[in-house]
Amino acid sequence: MDQLKIRGGRPLEGAVDIAGAKNAALPLIVASLLSDHPLVLTNLPAVTDVETLIALVGSYGVTVSRDQAHRVTLDARGAFNTEAHYDVVRRARATMLVLGPLLARFGTARVSLPGGCAIGARPIDLHLKALAALGAEVAVDAGYIVARAPQGLTGARIVLSSPSVGATATALMAATTASGETEILNAARDPEIADLAACLTAMGAQIEGAGSHRLSIMGRRSFRRAVHELIPDRVEAGTYAAAAAITGGRLELVGARLEHMAAECEVLERAGVRLFPTDRGLMVEGRGRLAAVDITTSPFPGFPTDLQAQFMAAMSVAEGACMIRETVFENRFMHVPELMRLGADLTLNGTNVLVRGVERLVGAPVMATDLRASVCLILAGLCAEGETVVNRVYHLDRGYEDLARKLVRCGADIERVRP
Ligand code: UD1
Repeated sequence: MDQLKIRGGRPLEGAVDIAGAKNAALPLIVASLLSDHPLVLTNLPAVTDVETLIALVGSYGVTVSRDQAHRVTLDARGAFNTEAHYDVVRRARATMLVLGPLLARFGTARVSLPGGCAIGARPIDLHLKALAALGAEVAVDAGYIVARAPQGLTGARIVLSSPSVGATATALMAATTASGETEILNAARDPEIADLAACLTAMGAQIEGAGSHRLSIMGRRSFRRAVHELIPDRVEAGTYAAAAAITGGRLELVGARLEHMAAECEVLERAGVRLFPTDRGLMVEGRGRLAAVDITTSPFPGFPTDLQAQFMAAMSVAEGACMIRETVFENRFMHVPELMRLGADLTLNGTNVLVRGVERLVGAPVMATDLRASVCLILAGLCAEGETVVNRVYHLDRGYEDLARKLVRCGADIERVRP
């Protein structure tokens, strides 16, 4: 298994091209199953979660053609209904997003219960309730979710008890073919959901309220060929912003959109980082030692849970103490003991971590446990004295395109090795 070796202490300088959003790509790939016309996706990130989802739709008979690295044509004309097996589903939790489109198109779906990052229990009750509200019979049978709507789905009012991103995507995709109007209340407002709505609209769906907490969908049966360009990855952009901050460097995030990153930019500014828009994206300038800032994760437009680990790395060398609260997932602190191995002063208490900033971190061997935890250890390694070796970096490949190479281009001393 590959390792990353980092010799820390160099400020990052330069420009980083921000890839298309992984979390936008996954539902969009699955949305191709709805239509009997091709869907062309551009600005697709080259990450393994995307490959997993492309392989998954391929197993349903979707023809996949790639004429360029970041562009794919998905043609589900000849798609057939089958079941998603555990060996594919366990590789990425997002595979269960196929439930909505399969049910919408074929009237039945059978999908193995999901795997993915080990960050808490991650129930799927809201997905299943949304499908049931649209008239599906839903059951769990021997590790599989079985959903049926032989007469088709019927528009309904779906009230999500929390604004789950995945459940909003499931409800939205299923509702596109339901008869009549569907209303999704307390919908996730994330840019990735708005991007899914934009793509579904280009495919012929009728959707109002994208980006708000109330989505209204008028179901229809026919779709058309569509071409859709993915939004940039705000989590990748936020990760490089944290990298600039933690190393006291200066990075231009090419393609990043400030309007998707307001909460994280506010934290950075309060920590003393200078941010300003450029013609191509966003400039992030670290200016000396960071100031400690309290952070509470919450659904969009709040501070993203997907950046909690990276910002904890940055806060661990800030001046002063701060509290980091995780309110989205109940067990997303696997990086805490690993950061402590590098010398961070962290006290974990339930869903809160008290971070007392230290003057320096010191390199050590550490273990990556999930996607965002892996990258937080890399950020810590970039500012630590001496060598940090991050093991199990395959987690990184799920969501970061070309991370080591992008960092090297900005002056980092990092190499990927096979021990
Ligand atoms: C998506 C993102 C993930 C991000 C998360 C929160 C993708 C592929 N992944 O994950 O990177 O960290 O949003 O921004 O887009 N919940 C339930 N029941 C459900 C569904 C969710 O209780 O049926 C809970 C979860 O356990 C969690 C919270 O709701 O505590 C948020 O989860 P959700 O927004 O659904 O996250 P995902 O869509 O899985």
